[in-house]
Amino acid sequence: MKLKEIFDGVFSIDGRLATKNLVKGRSYSEKILNIGGEEYRVWNPDKSKAAAAITKGIRNFPIKKGSKILYLGIAQGQTASYFSDIIGHEGIIYGVEFSSRAVSDLVISTEKRGNIVSIKADARKPEDYSWVEKVDVVYEDVADPEQVAILLRNAGAFLKKGGYAMMAIKSRSIDVTRAPKEIFRESVEMIKNTMEILDFVTLEPHEVDHAFIVCRPR
Ligand SMILES: C[S@@+](CC[C@H](N)C(=O)[O-])C[C@H]1O[C@@H](n2cnc3c(N)ncnc32)[C@H](O)[C@@H]1O
Repeated sequence: MKLKEIFDGVFSIDGRLATKNLVKGRSYSEKILNIGGEEYRVWNPDKSKAAAAITKGIRNFPIKKGSKILYLGIAQGQTASYFSDIIGHEGIIYGVEFSSRAVSDLVISTEKRGNIVSIKADARKPEDYSWVEKVDVVYEDVADPEQVAILLRNAGAFLKKGGYAMMAIKSRSIDVTRAPKEIFRESVEMIKNTMEILDFVTLEPHEVDHAFIVCRPR
């Protein structure tokens, strides 16, 4: 099999994205590839917007070994499990989620990883989890009309100097009646007031009406 590391801890194996499993023998329902005594978990771009963004050619992916991440809208932790593989035991993910059901599933599915902290809270109110330390990356995947403002508020409160923010924008959650292109342009303009945009890609065919942005404070 042809294996190439395309970002720190993110591999392309015969053209499929994968991460090295932090907890051998544990997976969701993804395919496992065994190479040189290591387990690699295939990261499906149809099931994870971060994987879709990498597949669509983002040039900056700031999550690496030891990264501290604030993850807004972590849900059951599917994408976070790949971030958890990449950051290893030296890193940590603070996962904010307001659905009680999702948080229960998250706790069960990630307990063996040891680098994900579940936080049952509303990402619109960062003051409710103000105890979280400063992080290297704020990652946002919430379906909320205010999702750009939520990202900026959390980045302002928790991002270390030199840190990065990434977000998946769902145009239909912001305004279902308007053209996605227009929503994306407005979102970019809002972000540009305080951040430098490093990457912008749309996520089709993996996710329709979604875009993905990597940015950092100016
Ligand atoms: C698209 S799903 C996230 C999928 C997940 N990021 C993944 O790739 O595995 C969006 C999640 O955001 C959560 N959410 C939406 N608004 C939120 C808010 N204001 N605060 C916290 N969680 C929120 C939803 O409950 C849902 O679980």
